[in-house]
Amino acid sequence: MSAPRHEPAIVTARRAETLKGRLRVPGDKSISHRALIVGALAVGRTAISGLLEGEDVINTARAMRALGARIERTGAGAWQVDGVGIAGFAPPAAPLDFGNSGTGCRLVMGAVAGCPISATFDGDASLRRRPMKRILEPILRVGAKVIAAGENERLPITLAGASDPIPIEYRTPVPSAQVKSAVLLAGLAAPGTTTVVEAEATRDHTERLLAHFGAELVVEPDGPEGRRITLTGQPELVPAPVAVPADPSSAAFPLIAALIVPGSELILTEVMTNPLRTGLFATLLEMGASIETLERRIESGEEIADLRVRFSPLRGIEVPAARAPSMIDEYPVLAVAAAFAEGPTVMRGLKELRVKESDRLAATAALLRVNGVAVEIDGDDLIVDGRGQVPGGGLVSTQMDHRIAMAALVMGLASDEPVAVDDASFIATSFPDFFETMRRLGGEIS
Ligand code: S3P
Repeated sequence: MSAPRHEPAIVTARRAETLKGRLRVPGDKSISHRALIVGALAVGRTAISGLLEGEDVINTARAMRALGARIERTGAGAWQVDGVGIAGFAPPAAPLDFGNSGTGCRLVMGAVAGCPISATFDGDASLRRRPMKRILEPILRVGAKVIAAGENERLPITLAGASDPIPIEYRTPVPSAQVKSAVLLAGLAAPGTTTVVEAEATRDHTERLLAHFGAELVVEPDGPEGRRITLTGQPELVPAPVAVPADPSSAAFPLIAALIVPGSELILTEVMTNPLRTGLFATLLEMGASIETLERRIESGEEIADLRVRFSPLRGIEVPAARAPSMIDEYPVLAVAAAFAEGPTVMRGLKELRVKESDRLAATAALLRVNGVAVEIDGDDLIVDGRGQVPGGGLVSTQMDHRIAMAALVMGLASDEPVAVDDASFIATSFPDFFETMRRLGGEIS
């Protein structure tokens, strides 16, 4: 597990004949991080299969190791975690480097907050720009202290975890599964109940995984879109095997490529269809996409399905703001689909996109514009003027953002002229075999 290196790599996608085949995209990134972290907080051995072996997750594995857990790779995607128990982390000898990953960094901050140790958190230039106050605020209430921080409470940050963690009730000020998860992971070490209230439900993998490991959680509705999650502190986390399903956020790239390249047909297997992650599929169906659910089943507490997708003429629609949490990572590639649709697509309520691996709202608009698509940012809304066809020919600035890079390359598979990206190296954070996969299906990417 050596530190990832990023040599900028210019890559170009060209118009493909058709995309055909059957594929399983890599394991879900959110669940992979959580499996390692929750496994490290359990006593005993957790076996994980299908772990995403992308750089973001590898950095979390390294952090867990630095905090005292034994972590071993036993085969492709097969990992074993020997956990240290809740509040059992050892002080790490060096700063924890989370690379490009907000999820890894923020969730581990939560877990360390309930532990009587100090640790320094750091990351790459993209992560150093991202807001951390949203995590510090609740974990300070739990009793953690900030020993040192960069400007504007950004990384690098040194935290001292609480020796006597306090159970809190916390209303998340932004719809963020990372904030919710950090509070719950800190709350594991506190006596009594820790409660998180969110006005809009966000992905619930932490809740599901903690329950899978035997923790007691009560989840109730709160308001029209919200949830109240109550965790009983100091549970005994009992290791349980975790089978990581295929990541719907990664599936989005080949799926949309198939929708826009004429004559294409793909079958995507074992895609996670947790309803808090399927906003993109609902949106594409409204746009006229042919996406068929072939077989639904449950694995390790998560719903999964095989999906058949066929090339489809798409029409522009309005995507409501309320849907954003269930498809927050999918907007760049949805914007690409919208460019190939007929008529305008209006995507509302995208404020959170500004604080992702890049300012994704600006980066998505720039990606489209440089390829001849008319696009507008109006407040927090993105409006794409779909013309059924995209000129292409642009060089896209990826801004250290894997999803901007993949969205641009998907666009190039169907645009009139090729589309190039200035740096494809960050794709390795979430979809390490993206190029091989797309080429195998018939994509022209080099
Ligand atoms: C994630 C939550 C989302 C998402 C990210 C993964 C998670 O971030 O964008 O890619 O695994 O909890 P926010 O919590 O900031 O919305």
